[in-house]
Amino acid sequence: MAAPKPPAFDTLSLHAGQHPDPLTGSRATPIYQTTSYVFQDADHAAALFNLERAGHIYTRISNPTIAVLEERLAALENGVGAVCTASGMAALHLAIATLLNAGDHIVASASLYGGSINLLTHTLPRFGITTTFVKPRDHDGIRAAVRPNTKLVIGETIGNPGMEVLDIPTVAQSAHDAKIRANVASVKRRWVSLLIAAACPLARAAGPVSPRASGRQR
Ligand SMILES: Cc1ncc(COP(=O)(O)O)c(C=O)c1O
Repeated sequence: MAAPKPPAFDTLSLHAGQHPDPLTGSRATPIYQTTSYVFQDADHAAALFNLERAGHIYTRISNPTIAVLEERLAALENGVGAVCTASGMAALHLAIATLLNAGDHIVASASLYGGSINLLTHTLPRFGITTTFVKPRDHDGIRAAVRPNTKLVIGETIGNPGMEVLDIPTVAQSAHDAKIRANVASVKRRWVSLLIAAACPLARAAGPVSPRASGRQR
């Protein structure tokens, strides 16, 4: 018998990351309006806090509803994981704060959402992170702007508001050649999918990202 086909995009967009609730049979993902979770006993709690087993501790860290969204986005993007935030600017700030330190440098598309330009121009320099802006289709300019302390190349798939389409493979290749990460922010309304396009291990890259707790016990 032929092996079952792996689920494709349409199926993943409906079902990835979710297992119907075995108690109720609910097909849709419930919205878990909880901050806290019950621990079976002290050992169970300790194992969760020590990250020895996956599970939920506190909703700011992880929540079963959000975990489904995160796993679904990761599946659709063919990624190893995803982190959802409550806004696009929170996502961008979180990604940068996770990957970079004071003294690091960013090469960014000059065709970005205004809030992102403000973050890179005004806020991050106060924390020692500086940015050089380059036109998104100036690939030589992007390569020339890379410095020894450059850790990140940032662009938007379709620039807001100029609608410039980013040549992701070329920009990512420039970042790979320079051994840095390329973050491509694809903002759809209130969520941001950050594709870490560069491969690891990279000499100048940040450390590995811990796997997120998921609704499934591993
Ligand atoms: C390209 C882009 N990045 C970031 C944002 C910021 O998203 P939020 O308003 O959810 O913080 C937006 C919002 O429109 C956007 O279009």
